[in-house]
Amino acid sequence: MEKHQLVLVLDFGGQYNQLIARRVREHHVYCEVKSYKTPIEEIRAMNPIGIIFTGGPNSVYEENSPHCSNEIFELGVPVLGICYGCQLMAQALGGEVTAATDASAREYGKTMTYYDTTSKLFKGLPTEGISWMSHGDYMAKVPEGFKLTAHSKMCPNVAIEDETRGFYGVQYHPEVNHTIGGSQMLYNFLYEICHAKGDWTMGDYSKNTIAAIREKVGSGKVLLALSGGVDSSVAAALLAEAVGNQLTCVFVDHGLMRKDEGDEVENAFGKWDINFVRVDAEERFLGKLAGVSEPEHKRKIIGEEFIRVFEEEAKKIGRVDFLVQGTIYPDVIESGLGDSATIKSHHNVGGLPDFVDFKEIIEPLRLLFKDEVRELGRELGLPNYLVMRQPFPGPGLAIRIIGDITKEKADLLREADYIFRDEIAKAGWDSQISQYFAVLTNMRSVGVMGDGRTYDYTLALRGVTTTDFMTADWARIPYEVLDRISVRIVNEVKHINRIVYDITSKPPATIEWE
Ligand code: XMP
Repeated sequence: MEKHQLVLVLDFGGQYNQLIARRVREHHVYCEVKSYKTPIEEIRAMNPIGIIFTGGPNSVYEENSPHCSNEIFELGVPVLGICYGCQLMAQALGGEVTAATDASAREYGKTMTYYDTTSKLFKGLPTEGISWMSHGDYMAKVPEGFKLTAHSKMCPNVAIEDETRGFYGVQYHPEVNHTIGGSQMLYNFLYEICHAKGDWTMGDYSKNTIAAIREKVGSGKVLLALSGGVDSSVAAALLAEAVGNQLTCVFVDHGLMRKDEGDEVENAFGKWDINFVRVDAEERFLGKLAGVSEPEHKRKIIGEEFIRVFEEEAKKIGRVDFLVQGTIYPDVIESGLGDSATIKSHHNVGGLPDFVDFKEIIEPLRLLFKDEVRELGRELGLPNYLVMRQPFPGPGLAIRIIGDITKEKADLLREADYIFRDEIAKAGWDSQISQYFAVLTNMRSVGVMGDGRTYDYTLALRGVTTTDFMTADWARIPYEVLDRISVRIVNEVKHINRIVYDITSKPPATIEWE
C-alpha cells in the first residue's frame, strides 16, 4: 500500500467527527479517525503531519471526561483543537476551563465571529462571518504563549494559537456548512501549518480499499444483495474489482422496480467477471401482496419475502465467508439515534438477519458520505445513470400504488413514472430535484376522451428538493414541464385520465405516499 501523508483526527465523541475527516479528504489529504484512547506509541508510529482534536459532549473539568496523553504536545506536530478539543488543549497546556456562569457566554448555533486574518489559520478569510458554535464552557484563562485570534460579541477567545509550537484552537465548528469559511480554515491548517502536499485522491481510496479487501477475503466466497441503488452498486463494484468471481451478487427483481431497472443494473456489471444472479420473483411477490392495502403490511411482506428469496439463493451458493453491506456513514449516524418514533418501517437489503452462515460482514463504504460514494462509483467505472440515481425505496412501486397491488396497476405506474422521468431529464431538471416519481392513487374519476366517457385512475406526481431527506420542500417544476408530462401520460398510458401535482412539504407529509 502506498504511504500518504496522514492527518490524525482524535475522536472525543463529538457528533461531527466524520465530517471533519471528510473535509480533510476533500482537501486531498489522507485522514484517519481514531479514539482519544489511542496509545501515544501508536500515534507516533503513524507519523501524522497534523492532529485534529474533535468536539465532544463532555466538559474537560469533569472527572472521567475523555483525555489524551499530554505527550502529544511533545511530538512536534501541529495540533488543531475544535470546541471540546480546543478546551482540552487549553487545559492541558496550563489554561483554565470553567462552565460559563453567565448564560450569555454559552453559545449555540449561528454566531457572528471576527477573525484576525494575519493568523495563518484565517488567511484569506473575510474578517467577519457566521460560525457555528455549540459550547457551554468557557476558557477562563488562556495558556501561556497563546494569543487570541478570533472573538464574538460574547466571547473574547473564540480562537487561540501558539504559532511557534503549532498549536491552534477554535471554539466553533469549522466542519459544518453553516460556518462561513470553515473549509478554508481547515485548508489553511493543512497547507499553511502542516505543509500538506495534497497527495490523496478518491483513486487512492479505491486502490487501498481494494487491496485491503483482497487481503481480508483471501480465497473466500463473498455474497452481496444488490438492490440497484447507489450504495449497494458501488459496494458491488469495489468487491468485483477486488475479488472478481469469488463474488456473487444477488439481484431480486420483485416486479415492483422502475422500468428497465433490472436490465440497467445487470448491464452495469457486465464488465466484471462476477457471479450475477438475477432472480425474477415478480409472481411470487405479487402473489403475497394480493389484496393487501395497508402500507405497513405491504412493507413487512416485501421485507420478509425478500429475505426468503435471498436465503434460497444463498443456500445454492453453499458456504459463504463474507456478506457485503453497502452501509454508508449517514446510515451509521441515523441508526445510532435511539428511540425516535417509527414513521415507516424501512426495508433495506442491508438489514439482513443472521440466517446466512457467514464469517464476517464487510462494509467498505462505512466511512463515506453519499457524494463521496458517488465519486468512488465513477472512479470504479460505473455508469453515470447508476451513480447519480435518485433514491428508490426498497419496497419499490408497492408503496407508490395506493390500495391493493395488481400487475396491471404496477405496469401502468411503471410507464407513467418513466414518462415523468424522461420529461424531467429532457427539461434539464433532473439534477435540480432530489427525488421525483409518480404515485398511482386509488381514486378514479370521470373524464372525457374522444367523444366517450372515461372512468379511470388519478395519477399524482411528486417532486421534492432536500439535502437530507428528513425534511423536504416540493419542487417548483415549471408549469410548461408539468403540462408536457401531463399531456404525454394521459395520451400514452391507458386508464389514467387525470394528473395532480403534490404540493406538500415534509413535514407534514412524507416524501413517499405510504
Ligand atoms: P419518507 O417517505 O419517509 O422517505 O419521507 C424518506 C426517504 O426514504 C426513502 N424510503 C425508503 N428507502 N427503504 C428504503 O431504502 C424503504 O423502505 C424506504 N421508505 C422510504 C424515500 O424514497 C425517501 O428517499
